[in-house]
Amino acid sequence: MAISAAEKKQRAAAAAMQYLRDDMLLGVGTGSTVNAFIEQLRPWRDRLRGVISSSDASSRKLSELGIPLFDLNEVGELELYVDGADEATRQRMLIKGGGAALTREKIIAAASRRFVCIVDDSKLVDTLGRFPLPVEVIPMARALVARQLESLGGQPVWRHGVVTDNGNQVLDVHGLRIDDPRSMEATINQLVGVVTVGLFAARPADVLLVAGAEEISAI
Ligand code: 5RP
Repeated sequence: MAISAAEKKQRAAAAAMQYLRDDMLLGVGTGSTVNAFIEQLRPWRDRLRGVISSSDASSRKLSELGIPLFDLNEVGELELYVDGADEATRQRMLIKGGGAALTREKIIAAASRRFVCIVDDSKLVDTLGRFPLPVEVIPMARALVARQLESLGGQPVWRHGVVTDNGNQVLDVHGLRIDDPRSMEATINQLVGVVTVGLFAARPADVLLVAGAEEISAI
């Protein structure tokens, strides 16, 4: 039976609910799949200790539900982080940042004991890179970073009009061959002017929940 991408996102989000525990501090990502997850958090409103959000957009939705929001600096390690991705491999390495929230997402992933990533099956790939790789840059360094990304073989395109929650800009890098995600992440991370590259390879997801037409696979 054919089901829509939106329905698959709902199912992936529903599958993540099994990881919730009472009194938990939960990291929450950004995007349409996470929006489906946030909607499903409604019955958990009084059971969670609170959430740490990766974007102003998710914070608004969580506040509307009445779920307490915490600053990451006020809390220790998070038990669980739930977020989507733009691409994912079976090794649970990811491209993220389609929603421009990659920096806070990477921070929350680093601060979390378990990262559960929820995707529909259109996001599963053998090799990362078909989705243009988001790179958050300090505004004055945009052209400098773009030239450096070109020398790595990519075609960076400035995401015009987008300012991240951190006041920075985003380059989307097309045409990169990402055969070794860890090495590419390290290389781009150390370019002067880069804030964050949307490759999640050094810290991949711990569980990848992939919603297909028939079933949910946990990878
Ligand atoms: C935001 C992200 C999102 O997780 C990614 O863009 C997937 O979004 P969606 O669930 O809407 O497909 O990384 O920065």
